[in-house]
Amino acid sequence: MNAEEIIRLLNDDFVHEIEATMVYVRNAFVMTECDPSRVTEAIGVDEMRHMNWLADLIVKRGGKPSMEHHTLDFGGDDLRGQLQMQVALETEAVERYKKHIEMVGDADKEVVGVLRHILDEEKRHRKEFRMRLEKVI
Ligand SMILES: [Fe+2]
Ligand SMILES: [Fe+2]
Repeated sequence: MNAEEIIRLLNDDFVHEIEATMVYVRNAFVMTECDPSRVTEAIGVDEMRHMNWLADLIVKRGGKPSMEHHTLDFGGDDLRGQLQMQVALETEAVERYKKHIEMVGDADKEVVGVLRHILDEEKRHRKEFRMRLEKVI
C-alpha cells in the first residue's frame, strides 16, 4: 500500500467516525432514560477522539481529512431502534477496522497501531450498547 492509498483508507474511517459522532450526540439528547443517554454521550466523545487520531495520521502523510459524510440514520425515535442502530454502527466499525488493519499490514506500523487501539474501543462500545439494548423491554 502506498501513502495515497493509506490516506484514502484513513479518510474512509474518518467519515464513519464523523457519522458515529453525530448520531451519538443527537441520540444522547433524544434518549429520555439517563443511563443509555450518558453512555451514548461518553462514547460519542470517544468517536470524536478517533476522528482526531485519524486526522493526525492523514495530515502527517500529506492528506486532508474528508468532511463528506453520508446521510445520517439515527435509528428512529425510540430507544430500542436507536440502540440497535448504535450496535450496528459499532459492528460495522469493528469489521472495517479489522479489514483495514489487514490491508495496511507492514506498510505503515504507526497506522496499524492506532487502528488496533481504535478497534479495541469499538468492541467495547458495542458491548456497552448491547448491554443497554438487552435491558430495553
Ligand atoms: Fe470510533
Ligand atoms: Fe465506537
